[in-house]
Amino acid sequence: MERRRFLSILLTALGSTAIASFAYPLLRFVAPPKMKTNIQKLTIRKDDIASGEAKEIVLGSTPAIIINVAGKGYIALTRVCTHLGCLVQYDKGEQKLVCPCHAGFFDLEGHVLSGPPPKPLQTLPLSVEGGNIIIG
Ligand code: FES
Repeated sequence: MERRRFLSILLTALGSTAIASFAYPLLRFVAPPKMKTNIQKLTIRKDDIASGEAKEIVLGSTPAIIINVAGKGYIALTRVCTHLGCLVQYDKGEQKLVCPCHAGFFDLEGHVLSGPPPKPLQTLPLSVEGGNIIIG
């Protein structure tokens, strides 16, 4: 193989790698990860979550959170941010869910308050039966 042809192939390979390394993050930003939940049932005692408190769980393979919203009752949401998939955290003092990656904020029903998330957090089915909370 002559030197000129070898350099041409090498530069083409390096250029393709560079383009792919820029295109993939851009594609992930434009098309956020799909929200698939492998929903199963999980039972938690009501006493485990006091009013105003939250409990982080994993439902199937999905990180989720159950919040006992003062005066409203229980709600279950996925913790997977709809922007790029970081895990949101409950901020008890501010009564919000916060995504630490890019400062996304959600209310306690999962609606976007501010930041880059394009959609609300996914709500998970929840029912209260006797002294138990059943998620899924
Ligand atoms: S991943 Fe970017 S705001 Fe949550």
